[in-house]
Amino acid sequence: MSLERTLMNSANLPQKVKLVEVGPRDGLQNEKDLVPLEVKVDLINRLSKAGFPNIEAAAFVSPKWTPQMADSEQVMSHIQRYSGTIYSALVPNIKGYERALESKVDEVVIFSAASQAFAMKNINCSIEESFERFKPIAYAAKKDKLRLRGSVSCAFGCPYQGRVSAEEAATVVKYMMDLGCDEVDIADTIGVATAGQVKETFETIFKFAPAAMFSGHFHDTYGQSLANIYAALQTGVSIFHSSIAGLGGCPYAKGATGNVATEDVLYLLNGLGIETGINLDEIVPIGEFISKAIGKTNGSRVGKALVSKHC
Ligand code: HMG
Ligand code: MG
Repeated sequence: MSLERTLMNSANLPQKVKLVEVGPRDGLQNEKDLVPLEVKVDLINRLSKAGFPNIEAAAFVSPKWTPQMADSEQVMSHIQRYSGTIYSALVPNIKGYERALESKVDEVVIFSAASQAFAMKNINCSIEESFERFKPIAYAAKKDKLRLRGSVSCAFGCPYQGRVSAEEAATVVKYMMDLGCDEVDIADTIGVATAGQVKETFETIFKFAPAAMFSGHFHDTYGQSLANIYAALQTGVSIFHSSIAGLGGCPYAKGATGNVATEDVLYLLNGLGIETGINLDEIVPIGEFISKAIGKTNGSRVGKALVSKHC
């Protein structure tokens, strides 16, 4: 997506949205039982075939901190790459970057937080220290011609600090921009934001970069994720993260439920006439597949409704 102002439709919403499927990473990372490699690979291959332009496939984090992601090298080497898909991976430090480079990812994702307490719990350092660690990653990513994405966790609320102000989120966005990020995710890690706060935060961070550079990453803990996506669309945001079957949860954000379900977001966007390039009927079986494979109830309301309609 270009940096120019996104084309808007008649309701003053973007005409096109890029959906970033985060199920294989954000969705699975919190699963207690190790998900077999072949299930992870099958999931990513099905998502690629369905035409997702960007899939968060792996996390080169410490296996002691997030054991579920320890097989990220194997995942990346076994998946089938589709030319239209960007395969992304989280990297917390230069060691993670080197693993990601070796695994030939298309995009590395550096991740910090808008709250000091969450940064300490999640990456064991302060916000400022995290950006010292990211400097060599940003330099290397530019040199190696990899896309660089930044993720700002707890941009609206934190399980330890409480409410997070728009200015606190904006401070971290500014750090990400200074490092040369191509895209920055504004994440409601614990799913507490409401539509008014979403509007205020996005309008505050647009001081640093155009709307086309930001994505909305919402969780559905308080059932607000679709309302929040609609509010973000109204501000001009045109990239959203979602997780097939609503998989997800963060190990360092107790009580937070899954990411907003991809099927639910697609149903909303289809209803608004917004193009994504993804066919809802084709992805519903993927949600069913992964839910059964990990022994979970499908967390997408749209997915469940469409499955029962066809039974
Ligand atoms: P630390 O313990 O302070 O790091 O962790 P360290 O440098 O002291 O290293 C400790 C050990 O880990 C060493 O091994 C290192 O070699 C190893 P030992 O000598 O003890 O055998 N190590 C690594 N191994 C493999 N790959 C690496 C790596 N780095 C160190 N990259 C660290 C600091 C940042 C590494 C750790 O805190 C970490 O990995 N944190 C990530 C936790 C995580 O995965 N969180 C979930 C993702 S973030 C998220 O979900 C939010 C987001 O989705 C947005 C949203 O949903 O809202 C992005
Ligand atoms: Mg998430």
